Amino acid sequence: MWNSRSHFWKGVSSLIPNNRKALIAGNWKMYKTIAETEAFFTEVAPLVKGVTHCEVVIAPPFTALRRAAELAESVGISIGAQDLHWEKEGAWTGAISATIIRETGATFTIVGHSERRQFFGETDQSVNKKIGAALSAGLRAIVCIGETLQERETGQTEAVLNRQLVNGLAGLTEPEFSPIIVAYEPVWAIGTGRTATPEIAQQAHCFIRGCVGQIVSPTVARGLRILYGGSVKPDNIRGLMEQPDIDGALVGGASLQAKSFASIVHYQVMEAAKF
Ligand code: 13P
Repeated sequence: MWNSRSHFWKGVSSLIPNNRKALIAGNWKMYKTIAETEAFFTEVAPLVKGVTHCEVVIAPPFTALRRAAELAESVGISIGAQDLHWEKEGAWTGAISATIIRETGATFTIVGHSERRQFFGETDQSVNKKIGAALSAGLRAIVCIGETLQERETGQTEAVLNRQLVNGLAGLTEPEFSPIIVAYEPVWAIGTGRTATPEIAQQAHCFIRGCVGQIVSPTVARGLRILYGGSVKPDNIRGLMEQPDIDGALVGGASLQAKSFASIVHYQVMEAAKF
């Protein structure tokens, strides 16, 4: 069933076959001015230009989106926002809509990052509305889910992930999933240096794919790219990428330096590529 926002994504699903294309995304959080963004792209351009084995995305602060989009185009990097508001426009002081993001040249947005959930009152319901707004404006959505340490230690990981998926993805039709990417980011691994082992991450990714299979359809689940996020570094990306259900990474701290980000992008030739 196509609805009003599906037209953006006609034909896109065929670009994402079951052999899922890897995606490496950098989430800069509240780092980098426009000048620092320019310096990053100058340095990263020769290191990642011509990469075809994976898609590469950078999510700078809102203020640097436009300049980043200009600089990224010739390098083959896509640009994403870190958040958006679900309304098209209105009296929402400090908020940014999908349309405003789209105008900068950005084509992705992160939705439901755990820092938004923890510190800015993001809920599964607001995540759901934001996904709808992103798709309506033609933005791809990287939807973040993940359990806290306390939830993991009390055996609630699967229940939490399932709840975030059921509520966050509620009401989406099958065709609307082609621009959706899920990022599994266990909160206890973010910015702590404590990465989930490849086995723990794989287990969660496999569970997430199974949930999507039940919530939506096995076909959508097979085609869905699931990224891992949480202390991803050049020295642990390879083990993560070797897992069958890990299709890429959402990188925080290590995406701020061009060299370490490029090393992560080149995860498959880590031994040879010493930047
Ligand atoms: P770190 O890679 O700094 O742990 O951050 C992960 C993250 O939150 C990416 O969105």
